[in-house]
Amino acid sequence: MSLLSGNLREEYARGRLLEADAPADPYALFATWLAGAVEAGLREPNAFTLATADAQGRPSARVLLLKGFDARGFSFFTNYASRKGQELAVNPWAALCFWWGALERQVRIEGQVLRLPAEESDAYYQSRPLGARLGAHVSRQSQVIPGRAPLEERLAALQAEYDEQHPPQRPEGWGGYLLAPACFEFWQGGPHRLHDRLRYSRGGESAPWRIERLSP
Ligand SMILES: Cc1cc2nc3c(=O)[nH]c(=O)nc-3n(C[C@H](O)[C@H](O)[C@H](O)COP(=O)(O)O)c2cc1C
Repeated sequence: MSLLSGNLREEYARGRLLEADAPADPYALFATWLAGAVEAGLREPNAFTLATADAQGRPSARVLLLKGFDARGFSFFTNYASRKGQELAVNPWAALCFWWGALERQVRIEGQVLRLPAEESDAYYQSRPLGARLGAHVSRQSQVIPGRAPLEERLAALQAEYDEQHPPQRPEGWGGYLLAPACFEFWQGGPHRLHDRLRYSRGGESAPWRIERLSP
């Protein structure tokens, strides 16, 4: 194996995450950290890695954009027949991972995923720019295709059919998911690789969150 340069090594020194500063509610800490990433001007601060696994437990991961969060959980939108959609259909457990490098912060969230109610998917779909709405109709996400040409042709046909006065409906196979967290982990890089890691977990949906420190 050829090793990467030793220069690819950062010391982390931007902050501390102490129990005394950790709110009882992990959503509050997530909101504060996401707002910090937005204020810091990071590109796509709502981007996260979604890990899923198939029925045999083989994992797969990809980057998505977070579109909302509330007391129920974290929402994102995609094609239900995509690889991730097929994996979630057989195994609803998934993990989200946010990495805000300039802030030396990572957030991990694990839980079960459900489809969002159709009305919520409709509302989000209709809020998207026309091009993105048409794109959702064009792409059979994750399927093998012979080239770009069929995509371009289908897009052109849809552009001739729809405009803002005659908008497309949400494709049935495209919509939102909600991950309901069973646990969160907040990671703040620290000097000498002695990072801060606080995990929030709870026994049931109405149980209080327990905060534990994990060894770095
Ligand atoms: C920054 C970024 C944001 C993305 N956001 C989304 C998204 O919100 N929804 C989506 O379906 N794919 C999104 N993608 C594409 C996915 O990474 C992935 O290619 C696609 O969802 C197919 O994944 P799958 O074959 O594992 O289902 C994004 C990619 C990047 C790099």
